[in-house]
Amino acid sequence: MDRLTESLIHMMAEYYAGDPKRIQHFIKVYTFADFISSEENLNGYDKFITVTAAIVHDIGIKESETKYGKSDGKLQEKEGPSLAENMLRQLNFDSPAISRVSYLVGHHHTYDNIEGMDYQILVESDFLVNMFEDNMSNDAIRSAYKLIFKTSSGKSLCRTMYSASFPQEDL
Ligand SMILES: [Fe+2]
Repeated sequence: MDRLTESLIHMMAEYYAGDPKRIQHFIKVYTFADFISSEENLNGYDKFITVTAAIVHDIGIKESETKYGKSDGKLQEKEGPSLAENMLRQLNFDSPAISRVSYLVGHHHTYDNIEGMDYQILVESDFLVNMFEDNMSNDAIRSAYKLIFKTSSGKSLCRTMYSASFPQEDL
């Protein structure tokens, strides 16, 4: 892990201080994103963007809860990008990285037009964690798998981790 990523994890943990659920969530999403990016042979820069987005992807939740008393996906997408931009600026991330990561934060609950491996891997990593944390039903897991998962690494992790959700004939 590079220094910038370490600093970002520190800053994001501070942002969610006292909220271990949120901190553990982003650490898990980050770890899956890192692993899938490696297995899918992303170049160094794309991997950097993917893991950076994974660390900050849910930054909008706290602000949504404060402002609107709820934090559905669309509100998170609305509030998240400017917060992510601020945080990345403080750590001197370069402008192209800041703009791509902010875009991903603003779209990580939008699944109808996923373009780019960074976007795809962020969404898959978040699903791999949310399937467990949100106790998704077998049907919901299978349908997310069919509709959303594209990388062979993400698909394999999903089938392996949630094998009970996949009847034998689906494997
Ligand atoms: Fe998330």
